[in-house]
Amino acid sequence: MTIPHVDVHAQYAPLIPELKDAFARTLETGRFIFGPEVEAFEREAAEKLGTAETVSCANGTDAIVLVLDAMGIEPGDEVICPAFTFYATAEAIARRGATPVFADIDPVTLNLDPADVERRVTERTKAIMPVHLFGRPAADFSGFGLPVIEDAAQAFGAGGIATSIVSTFSFFPTKNLFALGDGGLISVNDAELAQRLRMLRFHGSAAKKEFLYVGYNSRLDGMQAAFLRIFLRHLDDWNASRREAAARYTEMLEGIVETPEDEDGHVYHMYCVRSPERDRLSAALKDADIGHAVYYQPPLHLQPALRYLGYSEGDFPETEKASRENLCLPLWAGIEEEQQAEVVSVLKRASAIVRS
Ligand SMILES: Cc1ncc(COP(=O)(O)O)c(C=O)c1O
Repeated sequence: MTIPHVDVHAQYAPLIPELKDAFARTLETGRFIFGPEVEAFEREAAEKLGTAETVSCANGTDAIVLVLDAMGIEPGDEVICPAFTFYATAEAIARRGATPVFADIDPVTLNLDPADVERRVTERTKAIMPVHLFGRPAADFSGFGLPVIEDAAQAFGAGGIATSIVSTFSFFPTKNLFALGDGGLISVNDAELAQRLRMLRFHGSAAKKEFLYVGYNSRLDGMQAAFLRIFLRHLDDWNASRREAAARYTEMLEGIVETPEDEDGHVYHMYCVRSPERDRLSAALKDADIGHAVYYQPPLHLQPALRYLGYSEGDFPETEKASRENLCLPLWAGIEEEQQAEVVSVLKRASAIVRS
């Protein structure tokens, strides 16, 4: 049985008639950039997240760059983020000319470790950027007295997210809330910051006449917004389905690999297990035609593009261990029990061989 890592098509297939209607409706309006669908999606997303407003943009990486720019983060400033996350988190900080300062992760949650963050704060620290990794809510960093920017690219609808002034989201098609292409969003609880973000995403201008900032061209298009409005209505069911599938895996995998500890509000963008025999288990899944992923390897502090930061192997022990042991199994909203059982049986067989 071939099983993909993420079956995006299976998630949207039942909605194809609605998606076609949205496509036709947008064709009728002729409003492909900004327009009524984008405005409606921004309103509906803010409502769902419980934030004052949202500002859409072209993708989740731009969302971070725009926020850093709008907050005045510039060369010489430091922003603390986890060493164990997707490259875009740190890339966006470096793109602004600021310095990504890595901190290690908590081995249980795989999220930014507050104790290690505390050790890395300096007078140049301008913000802390926790990542709600794999859909699991990160710790609360509001007590540090520094601006918190939540990278919530993997966690739309997770509990306790978007509580800071500003959070960023990605709608890359494998995300738990996805577009049929690229898309990004910023949730904002500060009207002035929101206004600046709206201008920055559009060449630093409010009305294409007077240009107040050197900005960007980073817009969500009307077609994607129309699709996202449909998907947003299914998000709670999808997140619940992911949680159910995760609970099934955890039960079935007992004694085979280390399973993630559950937490209220975790939306399981990914279901990741750990094993010192990860590479062998990964090879067995590959032989059985079962899609999976190994994140994040090498971790950010060892990525070639970030060598100039001066980190070396051994600097972040928990990150490096997670990078060696992490294995993300097939998961999407609606994955069938039979498919999960197949994944588990391959892992069971492979781990028995490893142990014998
Ligand atoms: C944690 C994290 N941050 C940022 C991004 C960047 O999002 P995008 O691919 O939409 O630019 C992603 C996703 O790819 C991500 O997983």
